[in-house]
Amino acid sequence: MSIDFSGRVAIVTGAGNGLGRSHALALAARGAKVVVNDLGGARDGSGASSDAAKAVVAEIEAAGGEALAHGANVTNMEQVQDMVAQTMARWGRVDILINNAGILRDKSFAKMDLDDFRLVMDVHVMGAVNCTKAVWEIMREQQYGRIVMTTSSSGLYGNFGQTNYGAAKMAQVGFMNTLVLEGDKYNIRVNALAPTAATRMTEDLMPAEVLDMLKPESVTAGALVLCTEQAPTKMILCAGAGGFASARLFETDGIFLAPEQQTPEAVLENWDAINNTAEQSELASGMKQSEKFLVKAFNYLQSKGSGNA
Ligand code: NAI
Repeated sequence: MSIDFSGRVAIVTGAGNGLGRSHALALAARGAKVVVNDLGGARDGSGASSDAAKAVVAEIEAAGGEALAHGANVTNMEQVQDMVAQTMARWGRVDILINNAGILRDKSFAKMDLDDFRLVMDVHVMGAVNCTKAVWEIMREQQYGRIVMTTSSSGLYGNFGQTNYGAAKMAQVGFMNTLVLEGDKYNIRVNALAPTAATRMTEDLMPAEVLDMLKPESVTAGALVLCTEQAPTKMILCAGAGGFASARLFETDGIFLAPEQQTPEAVLENWDAINNTAEQSELASGMKQSEKFLVKAFNYLQSKGSGNA
């Protein structure tokens, strides 16, 4: 089945370089009209220039596609709203949003300046929130939307020197989880991409021959699936160097302790049972966890003969 985005309008943030550029080029090559957003700053978020976004638009147009450059700083809601207003004025809809813009300010937590923590949170978290907020009502009215968050193995699993970045990247997953529930009846599907690619963001982190394997295009192959009509929802797709995997959160079935047993000693004594993965499951919402615990409590009450139902 070939994937075609004709008639679809996509906004890709941070699309002047690296992964965002690759996503934008690929969406346009498959027929989407693409808003190429980029602030055009340095890797640490300093500075600004619209040249990077304009160069990608020129590439798309040279290949016969349609694109619009916008230099919005995703942390600035007014600029984001202007970008969405320009998109609507030109094409009248927004089908796809890839929240990709990001920066790094790595330091061990002991040495981390809180301003660097805040800035990284602001770009990744509030950047994604602002852009999503600006298109959410449009997507609800259209009864169609595909949103991709860009998370990271650093958020999912941790990376030395990246407390700020890891926190921001995992926040994207939390943001996704609830958007999935709220977007469901409007045919808005929200997924997350956990990429590994050689870009200016990773250039100091790996040896050159490994970097050669890590083409942004291999990540884009996965990202595009998350933008299709058939897209899943609530998936965390990990992609890099030709590897594709799904990161998932499971919870053990756990145990139940009666009120008189609810002591830290009893919790500790049951540590193995609490961690027993035999009946672990994925929970569709936070409510499902409450239900699971309440069923155990209810069964206990019934076994004591004091349940009302
Ligand atoms: P990159 O540095 O090549 O591209 C990021 C782009 O975002 C830049 O063009 C930059 O100007 C733009 N940007 C930064 N702040 C912005 C703002 N406030 N408003 C608008 N644009 C802004 O980085 P790369 O590697 O392509 O990263 C893209 C995304 O993928 C980021 O969210 C990053 O955290 C994530 N990621 C990348 C990994 C990798 O291996 N390259 C690994 C895991 C996640």
